[in-house]
Amino acid sequence: MTAMASPSAGPRAPTDSNTADRPAVDGRRLLRRLEELAAVGPITGADGSRGSARLALTDADRDGRDLVVTWMRDLALSVSIDAIGNVIATRPARDGSLTSPVMTGSHIDTVRTGGRFDGNLGVLAGIEVIETLIERGIETTRPFAVAFFTNEEGARFSPDMLGSLVYAGGMTIEEAYDIVGIDGARVGDELARIGYLGAQPCPGPVPHAFVELHIEQGPVLELEGFRIGAVTGVQGISWTELTITGQSNHAGTTPMRFRHDAGYVAARIATFVRELATEIGHPHVGTVGKIDLHPNLVNVVAATAVMTVDLRNTDEAVLQESERRLHAFLDELSAAEGVTISKRTLARFEPVIFDDRVIDLVEKTASDLGNTVMRLPSGAGHDAQMMARLCPTAMIFTQSHLGISHNPAEHTDDADLVMGADVLLRVMLELSEGTVI
Ligand code: GLV
Ligand code: MN
Ligand code: MN
Repeated sequence: MTAMASPSAGPRAPTDSNTADRPAVDGRRLLRRLEELAAVGPITGADGSRGSARLALTDADRDGRDLVVTWMRDLALSVSIDAIGNVIATRPARDGSLTSPVMTGSHIDTVRTGGRFDGNLGVLAGIEVIETLIERGIETTRPFAVAFFTNEEGARFSPDMLGSLVYAGGMTIEEAYDIVGIDGARVGDELARIGYLGAQPCPGPVPHAFVELHIEQGPVLELEGFRIGAVTGVQGISWTELTITGQSNHAGTTPMRFRHDAGYVAARIATFVRELATEIGHPHVGTVGKIDLHPNLVNVVAATAVMTVDLRNTDEAVLQESERRLHAFLDELSAAEGVTISKRTLARFEPVIFDDRVIDLVEKTASDLGNTVMRLPSGAGHDAQMMARLCPTAMIFTQSHLGISHNPAEHTDDADLVMGADVLLRVMLELSEGTVI
């Protein structure tokens, strides 16, 4: 961790330091677009907070896509849609070239209980960066591209980061089309249905560099008193779906010793995942986010449970050890309880380390703008971790108030959202000049 400057002076007017050689984004325009996009698939949290529900490839996702594509086309950018539905808008370089751009982007799909900034900030800040350049007549040595990638969240279709994974060549398009979601829908069919099965082939063209702006989605920056994060990498992710098959029976008449109770086994697994994470210690995390019991009735011993386990660690060896211990526990438990437990891998990504040159550039740029900067790894998965397979990559984080995310109550101060976009603008300009890479 490095404090690169005195603590930030707090919110600033969006147009401060907006000089010809040091341009700044139009913060009001960025905030307005964030509001407009959040209103597509609107939801209200228990505390009255406003968020969005745009599960990937649903009608709400299509409406959000249409809105963002309109903004891209309004800027006369070259807009392409690829075979997995990723949308990339490019502004040509000074010499008219569209190849090897400095690229930014993120996602606009959300979990069912999404906030307003997760993903959306990175996409709309990218559009704002390009609009700022156009407005100020600033031409660049390399093209500038902004993308939104399909199904980053993985909440409807696994794995997460699907669009950027396919873009980077980590999964074939045929395999991706055949993925079936939590509602039985198929990726290929849903892409065609919403009109985003594009013509551009995957894997996609290699950018010069990739940098993604995102809210932290965790409490670290705020707690430690740093305004901007220079993200060093993304921790490894292991998602497994478990199907436990026991025997449904009468809740009143079946003595406890005769039960093969899928509900009880699911509860034991959830407890084990929690205790394992506590034992391994920080930064290991383990989550059981979903348990479906069948038949799910008050007086019936559950016949089946379908549940998910999400394990994450920055260290691949520790992540593997946690998987091994979970599997050993499942074997013991199924034998002891007389149930079967089948496993299906939903996502498995090793930890990713970003490019030092881009991390340093983010740190220096944010610091030069008067911010305190902390280097930190990301707890959440991001499209940048897939793009890192192709080109030098890093990320910029802004604070997330109380670390709340995947929740309509997600909040980042306006001034921080705008500052993040300003850092993005300057990092991209520097990357375009080729002095760093
Ligand atoms: C996806 O964004 C995840 O980190 O779960
Ligand atoms: Mn995200
Ligand atoms: Mn998310």
